[in-house]
Amino acid sequence: MVALLLLLQAACVFSVGVGLWVIGSHFFTADIPAAVGHPVKLRVLHCVFQLLLTWGMIFEKLGICSMPRFVRFMHDLVPLKEDPDVVVTDLCYGTIPVKLYQPKVFSCTPRLGIVFYHGGGMLIGSLRTHNAICCHLSKKSDSVVLAVGYRKLPQHKFPVALRDCVVATTHFLKSLNKYGVDPDRVVVCGDSVGGGMATVICQRYLGCPDLPKIRAQILIYASLQAVDFQLPSYQQNKNVPLASRDFAFYCWSTVLDIKPSWKSTIMKGAHLPAEFWKKYRKWLGAENIPERFKKRPYQPKTSEPLNESAYLETSLALDSMNSPLIAEDEVVSQLPETFIVSCEYDLLRDDSLLYKKRLEDLGVPVTWHHMEDGFHGVLSTLDMGCLHFPCSKRILDAMVHFLKGL
Ligand SMILES: *[C@@H]1O[C@H](CO)[C@@H](O)[C@H](O)[C@H]1NC(C)=O
Repeated sequence: MVALLLLLQAACVFSVGVGLWVIGSHFFTADIPAAVGHPVKLRVLHCVFQLLLTWGMIFEKLGICSMPRFVRFMHDLVPLKEDPDVVVTDLCYGTIPVKLYQPKVFSCTPRLGIVFYHGGGMLIGSLRTHNAICCHLSKKSDSVVLAVGYRKLPQHKFPVALRDCVVATTHFLKSLNKYGVDPDRVVVCGDSVGGGMATVICQRYLGCPDLPKIRAQILIYASLQAVDFQLPSYQQNKNVPLASRDFAFYCWSTVLDIKPSWKSTIMKGAHLPAEFWKKYRKWLGAENIPERFKKRPYQPKTSEPLNESAYLETSLALDSMNSPLIAEDEVVSQLPETFIVSCEYDLLRDDSLLYKKRLEDLGVPVTWHHMEDGFHGVLSTLDMGCLHFPCSKRILDAMVHFLKGL
């Protein structure tokens, strides 16, 4: 009995210690821009997120369960809110779980279709975390939404998630009739890594004449390149929640199975051969980013001597499947109409700005919204009650407006 009490006491002290450590390190490392409008909410959100990651790491070290599993388990405990106007059906396409959202009201004409890929660095995020977003999209834009529950870390690394998304999308495109979807109005949509997969899928499907053509792509603070970690936004926002540069690097290196010890070499850009940078500079160089985004300080990209081993280790990241931003002109020029949201306080802001420029230069119509008070992941706060940011609603309204115009 006494031993049990002591153990309980020790566990309590340890938990409090972990909590204090997380809060302490938040105040030391996190950079909370006042312009997000609700800095205290962002602090709370970040501390909760860090607490989940930290406990996940502790459980992983103790061999109880992996960090991603623990974080997903915890966020999936939040009850799903139902919307009386939307019918939600859980299905499996083969082994891939998907959620289908259909407006309850009867429609005598075929509807718009949206294939949705959620974000979360392939580590967190699920069909449940993005349920409110999909419900809202389906209801407000009168569309059939298919959300793909692709497999994630730690068991499933590159290219499993992309494969799942391709398989589910192909199956959906072949079943449009069954769901009452207009084959001329199918859109792919995603946030963060989901946005990256949406555009990779668009690029790949250009060569599939027997599938309905994708009508548009919606890319919300998408992750579009894994080449250059020195872009201005990667420096300006390196410690802004919810995606710090360290967290992004962790996700990226784990997905691609790259050892963390390469970090400093990759951050400096020493994994890029000179001829590689010469070829892609015209698309990736900071000179392609408008001056108004360079007001906050950053260092110009340095040219480091090549570390050949680092190049070999990371060469998979330099493929257009992982960096759709560097796909060739003949691919990008054929892409459908594009809707882009970028956030000022987002590590990945410049991915969006650079892709927007490439698309526009090649004649693809782009609708672009820049959220001056946005940060990475803000859309997911939509249904977080008191931790909700008004910016998430503005992003969603802009998406709905775009969808209604298709
Ligand atoms: C390349 O980078 C690795 C890891 O950062 C380092 O151990 C190694 O010494 C570097 N090689 C050269 C030739 O600089």
